[in-house]
Amino acid sequence: MLYNHGVYMEIKAELILGDCKDKLKRLEDNSVDLVFTSPPYADSRKNTYGGIKPEEYVEWFIPISEQLLRVLKPTGTFVLNIKEKVVDGERSTYVMELILGMRRQGWLWTEEFIWHKKNCYPGKWPNRFRDAWERLLQFNKSKKFDMYQETVMVPMGDWARSRLRNLSETDKIRDNARNGSGFGKNVSNWLDKNMVYPTNVVHLATECSNKNHSAAFPKELPKWFIKLFTQEGDVVLDPFMGSGTTLIAAQELKRNSIGIEILPEYYRMVESEIKPVSCYLFEDQGSYETLSAK
Ligand SMILES: C[S@@+](CC[C@H](N)C(=O)[O-])C[C@H]1O[C@@H](n2cnc3c(N)ncnc32)[C@H](O)[C@@H]1O
Repeated sequence: MLYNHGVYMEIKAELILGDCKDKLKRLEDNSVDLVFTSPPYADSRKNTYGGIKPEEYVEWFIPISEQLLRVLKPTGTFVLNIKEKVVDGERSTYVMELILGMRRQGWLWTEEFIWHKKNCYPGKWPNRFRDAWERLLQFNKSKKFDMYQETVMVPMGDWARSRLRNLSETDKIRDNARNGSGFGKNVSNWLDKNMVYPTNVVHLATECSNKNHSAAFPKELPKWFIKLFTQEGDVVLDPFMGSGTTLIAAQELKRNSIGIEILPEYYRMVESEIKPVSCYLFEDQGSYETLSAK
């Protein structure tokens, strides 16, 4: 819709109540740009929403990931937040088995990000330390997927700058000559930059304003990945919606969103918090046309 020099764009949030294994079948093939989700972890939090036994986890998840593979666009990305628990004194291997199962299903396992929980609770266990990180497994359908790296750049930081300065001339010459990598030369290119690309470790506190769900992640976590893998007007899906953190993040970033939740109380909670349609005025018509064409 045209308005003066801008255009109105509708951003929608669609909520679905039910088991995502079935409800995903309603979604069209190749229609989603990013799946970002945190499913129930094996056997954990049994009392809150029914855990799945570690030995049954892959069998349970594979029909769901089959649907996700169908609905994701060839240029899209699936980010799975998961962490294997300790069962009977050992780390369970179901996440590794799941990665292998999903590869057999046709997914590419392109990257593993770490969410470093900056503020995890203090504690002591006899044979291990505090668990301060979770996996964010990245899967894709093809090696050419959309990625907007500039959107998550971080300040260089003084320590990095001084370390780069300290890279001596001989270091640079030796590295370049020794293996032809151009390491010293490439690194010195970053000296005059204020912003650099981040690493694959995302440092975020676990604290979140949404206390109505026992396993909510902080809003900044989906936000980081939504910015990295989508543009305004794209579609973000969370098949294990919980308190709707992914959808809220998507809406704030002007992305369309779809959330599926099995428990009516969480579904209703999100329904009362999220606007099904929001209208935004975009000043730059050019960028809207690009999105429409996409
Ligand atoms: C780890 S929580 C997600 C929390 C969410 N990321 C948030 O920030 O609130 C997983 C959610 O998936 C829901 N769930 C479990 N099995 C499901 C299924 N088969 N289909 C849809 N939702 C399911 C649970 O009720 C729970 O709310």
